[in-house]
Amino acid sequence: MMPIRSLKKVVLISSSTYLSFLSEMGVGGAHPGGLNLTKKIFNTEKVNGGSRILDVGCGTGQTAAYLASCYGAKVTAMDINPIMIEKAKSRMMQYQLPVEVVQGSIEDFPLQDGTFDYIISESVLAFVNKPKALNEIFRLLKNGGRLIANELTVNKQLTPSSEEEIKQFYGLDSIPMEADWITLFEKAGFQSIEVLKQNNYMLQNDSIPEFQYSEHLDPNLYFIMIQHLNILMKYQGILDNGVFLCTK
Ligand SMILES: C[S@@+](CC[C@H](N)C(=O)[O-])C[C@H]1O[C@@H](n2cnc3c(N)ncnc32)[C@H](O)[C@@H]1O
Repeated sequence: MMPIRSLKKVVLISSSTYLSFLSEMGVGGAHPGGLNLTKKIFNTEKVNGGSRILDVGCGTGQTAAYLASCYGAKVTAMDINPIMIEKAKSRMMQYQLPVEVVQGSIEDFPLQDGTFDYIISESVLAFVNKPKALNEIFRLLKNGGRLIANELTVNKQLTPSSEEEIKQFYGLDSIPMEADWITLFEKAGFQSIEVLKQNNYMLQNDSIPEFQYSEHLDPNLYFIMIQHLNILMKYQGILDNGVFLCTK
């Protein structure tokens, strides 16, 4: 497939063309492994009706809705992007779920220390100032609380031009390897960090794709989707995801 050259006409609401595409198309489960991997991960956690959970960078709120409806947990869904927030709110209204949906940034989220039992980040930390966001997540967790992070990794050192290509398209400041993520979690204060072993989910997603389109979609958004798939194919086996279970 030919790489797409001109993306100029797309109106960006953030520095990441890819994140703008996700919000306008309203892609649900926009993380490796999709909702099925989320369900698998939470199967072995001790979530119940008394658990307080924060879904950071909740997107259209698919995971937050699942955790509220399946476990009856008290879920807060937050995202920086107003289009995502609108779509997450409309999902909670449609299914009459008592999920609190708030706009904010995980780099600075003014809630009390020790508020949450679980914080879940699905393909979000890769896009933010990682040390800042992780300090905030650590602060917001109760003692013994868990961060569950499903995040982008690379399996081997990239050439400078490949690294630049990926960073530019996704709007990233770095692309950590698994060991770099562990160092970041440790620096934030997490002591017990477990990595779930799994298959490479970057090109596999057996969850049903979900879209909540905005009105008046710019046709260039489809080119962004193709460029995203081009990158996944080009770096197959190199771009990967890691699921990290970190306890405070
Ligand atoms: C790849 S999407 C994943 C969305 C969702 N977690 C999912 O799996 O469908 C990344 C999300 O992170 C959000 N995001 C980016 N920077 C953020 C920040 N500083 N604070 C909160 N959310 C942020 C984006 O708006 C976007 O919704």
